[in-house]
Amino acid sequence: MEVISSFNSDWPRIAALKLKLGHLVAFPTETVYGLGADAQNEFAVSRMYEVKARPRNHPVIIHISSIQYLDKWVINTPEYAKKLANFFWPGPMTLILQRSKIAKDFITGGQDSVGVRIPNNKIAQKLLKEFEDLGGCGVAAPSANRFGQVSPTSASDVSEEIQDYLNSSDLILNGGSCTLGLESTILDCRSKSPIILRPGALEKEMINEIAGIKVMDYDLTNKIRTSGQNKSHYKPKALVYLKGVPQTGDGYIALNSFKTPNDSVRLASPKDNSQFAQQLYSALRLADKFGLTRVFIEVPRTGPLSDAIMDRVSKMVL
Ligand code: TXA
Ligand code: MG
Repeated sequence: MEVISSFNSDWPRIAALKLKLGHLVAFPTETVYGLGADAQNEFAVSRMYEVKARPRNHPVIIHISSIQYLDKWVINTPEYAKKLANFFWPGPMTLILQRSKIAKDFITGGQDSVGVRIPNNKIAQKLLKEFEDLGGCGVAAPSANRFGQVSPTSASDVSEEIQDYLNSSDLILNGGSCTLGLESTILDCRSKSPIILRPGALEKEMINEIAGIKVMDYDLTNKIRTSGQNKSHYKPKALVYLKGVPQTGDGYIALNSFKTPNDSVRLASPKDNSQFAQQLYSALRLADKFGLTRVFIEVPRTGPLSDAIMDRVSKMVL
């Protein structure tokens, strides 16, 4: 496995060719790092599942460089979903739509739907374009962590997570730290109104306004879908607490307006919600590196991203 920096001017050609030849390429997006495989290559996708140790019935998101590739993967896109796509892409939004014939069971986990996203990160964009120039159609990419672990937000996080499982032809693209740090908002767009399956950086009010239809809350729909929901997910080794006061030697994550209690170990002091989201996963990784057994998180209750942050951390305490 090789790690290649985005400062190496040859990286787009090298990385796209690797994908086309069926190797795996981990790459940065604005949300988290993805572990990419040619979405039409069953062997490559199957290796990606092995590297992640992910159950085969968990569908993966297809990443494309521009909206012209959407119709290759999906059919029957409702008008409101087209509006969302045109407005929010490239960006941290995944649309779940009815799949086309090229979205095979090995991508969708056997479901009739498929998730698609255009990431807003220069390196991801360049990689996808270059791959499409070689005749590729889309890159399947789950977060580049082992199943059940916290998503990686830097190339070194990716190495720590999966380097032991990659082989010498695979590649990790180093594009620095992810700017958002939390996974994309997932919207199921197969019914009359969109349903939030996973909250993210897009605020509900914005989605309502652009879609022109009221979005349904994920809480109400947890029973409808099973993938990645209602389960303990995204978890560090340390036990996570959202209530209570940390004691000496416990980890502590809170906005910088909160003082560090007792002799706890301050893992992050973000100045606002967006920094909180960006630093959360790396702070949890730090807790594991320090060998801490407990981490207390003071989650922002209001403001941008508070729903998305609460969604992720509440799954860590299950
Ligand atoms: O920000 C992101 O979305 C990142 C970056 C790399 O793009 N990707 C990501 O992928 O978080 P992953 O596989 O770690 O999480 C995707 C979630 C999973 O919970 C999966 O079950 C769900 O999306 N998903 C994917 N396709 C789906 C589908 N057709 N129907 C329902 N859920 C789906
Ligand atoms: Mg994931």
